[in-house]
Amino acid sequence: MTVADPLRVVLVGAGLMGRAWRDVLEAAPDVELAGIADIDDSAAHAAASALDRPVPTGTDGVELAAATGARAIVNVTVPEAHHAVTTAALFAGLDVLGEKPVAPTVAQALSLAAATEVTGRLFMVSQSRRWNPQLHALRAMAEDLGAPGTLTTEFFRESHFPGFREEMAHPLLIDMAIHPFDSARFVLGAEPLSAYCESHNPPWSWFAGDAAATAVFEMTGGVRYTYTGSWASPGRQTSWNGEWRLSAEKGSAHWDGDHDPVLEAESDPAPHTPSPFSGIEGALLVFTDALRTGVPPMGEVHENVLSLAMVEAAVRSADTGQRVLIDDVLADAHAEALRTETHPDGRDALASWPSVRSVLTAARP
Ligand SMILES: NC(=O)c1ccc[n+]([C@@H]2O[C@H](COP(=O)([O-])OP(=O)(O)OC[C@H]3O[C@@H](n4cnc5c(N)ncnc54)[C@H](O)[C@@H]3O)[C@@H](O)[C@H]2O)c1
Repeated sequence: MTVADPLRVVLVGAGLMGRAWRDVLEAAPDVELAGIADIDDSAAHAAASALDRPVPTGTDGVELAAATGARAIVNVTVPEAHHAVTTAALFAGLDVLGEKPVAPTVAQALSLAAATEVTGRLFMVSQSRRWNPQLHALRAMAEDLGAPGTLTTEFFRESHFPGFREEMAHPLLIDMAIHPFDSARFVLGAEPLSAYCESHNPPWSWFAGDAAATAVFEMTGGVRYTYTGSWASPGRQTSWNGEWRLSAEKGSAHWDGDHDPVLEAESDPAPHTPSPFSGIEGALLVFTDALRTGVPPMGEVHENVLSLAMVEAAVRSADTGQRVLIDDVLADAHAEALRTETHPDGRDALASWPSVRSVLTAARP
């Protein structure tokens, strides 16, 4: 893929986030937006009409990709459609860059990982906040601070979202917390082992479900990651990225979520090269680089699934009052994926996995 030979992609899903992706795809030098699909024809048309050139539209992303000679799709549909849209694209020979969450359930996420094994196509999840250069600076500091002890994120916002978020059971954990959970794995270079979570809904909350939660994760290496937050929090607002503190063997690092992180340690911070990637533009660059080089990128579906497993474990713990093992979440999801997989090759791939965790972590770049 070069400016002379760009990657032709179809955007699938022309809602709020889809329109942000449309502009990024249209501006990217090595990418050509070949078409826009949405199950709602009028949404696809409206998104295309904002461009200053004609772009084909349709209601089915895979059909539109075939008609326009596209090689990949960017899946920005609602989470409930992620599995069906991405599976169809992979089995049609298309590579996929998809919005978070990978799927609504870990079982569906495992099915998607198996689909990439069967088809040999790339499926990368765009977990946009992982491509924040300040987060990369925090990770570089973590590497300089010796053994990590505790990582914390505080997230307190007064957020009004007329619509589904104000009606769902765990709006904060399911819709938002996946970002910091995914970032915590990245900062620590560690994977989750267990979760204990309590959630509640403050009496003044305008959400139907629990708008507040506190979760403690045991990570590999004995590190604890603690997340505490509320979406019904008037007064002092944290960054949308949350406020972060790492306490480690040789000092601590603090990130307010909006500015460069600050190190407090006996030795000065080591120089590090700033990350060239940022937000969804960064995710797109990483995706096209990966297709060019064949090297699996960060966010490749196998690598991403444990972030969703942290959400599922936290919700299960909040609902049961019990500490939940991530391996139990993975085992239950694997059994469900085997039960519900409709593609015989996908089922064979799932059945061949020696253990879910080993398959997910082996693929880590
Ligand atoms: N990274 C971030 O910070 C961020 C922010 C917002 C949303 N998101 C994610 O982006 C995705 C889309 O969110 P949104 O806010 O744009 O939602 P939205 O409801 O505004 O738009 C989703 C669109 O998908 C379309 N759609 C549904 N099923 C489809 C199908 N089978 N085929 C084609 N189109 C279909 C809908 O008609 C709708 O136009 C979600 O996964 C969401 O979690 C990420």
